[in-house]
Amino acid sequence: MSIDIPYEKYASQFLKQLPRGAFLTVKTGDTLNTMTIGWGSIGYIWQKPVIMVMVRYSRYTHELMEKAADFSVSVPLPGELKKDLAVAGSKSGRDIDKFQECKLTAKNAKSIESPVIDECGLIYECKIIYKQAMQEDNLDSEYRDKFYANNDFHVMYFGEILSCYTRE
Ligand SMILES: Cc1cc2nc3c(=O)[nH]c(=O)nc-3n(C[C@H](O)[C@H](O)[C@H](O)COP(=O)(O)O)c2cc1C
Repeated sequence: MSIDIPYEKYASQFLKQLPRGAFLTVKTGDTLNTMTIGWGSIGYIWQKPVIMVMVRYSRYTHELMEKAADFSVSVPLPGELKKDLAVAGSKSGRDIDKFQECKLTAKNAKSIESPVIDECGLIYECKIIYKQAMQEDNLDSEYRDKFYANNDFHVMYFGEILSCYTRE
């Protein structure tokens, strides 16, 4: 069972968990993958509730996000699924099926094609409405050197939150 909630209700819980990891899940055609994210934001843009996630070019997830219409962000309850976050954040979906490896359940979403992770306490379902590749010249040089020495920049994906709910 799930309980629909206003998108901002657990925003602080989302932001607190984010540096520890959440699952970004995307499906395009028959291809499904999830990866751990630690950076992102939640807010209100274009008169919509929006989540922004950042995916480096090197990720398999980037390949899928480029073809997908939507994504989900599944947030574990505090302290839960630590091992799975570590696996999803270090192994690539190019090499393994992370759902099988971690025994995570890809559950049908309410509003989008990409599934959600049933074991997580807080779910956001998002439709991609804007994407923006980072522009190197626009970035503070200290940040550039610190985070992008290998030129593996992020693409930012903005998703309108269509559904937000918690596990009962
Ligand atoms: C805690 C944590 C947070 C992470 N955050 C991000 C992130 O926000 N963006 C990103 O591109 N990679 C991030 N990563 C790295 C990816 O999750 C990792 O490279 C993953 O293996 C990519 O999987 P894929 O190739 O199946 O897409 C993070 C890893 C960890 C452990």
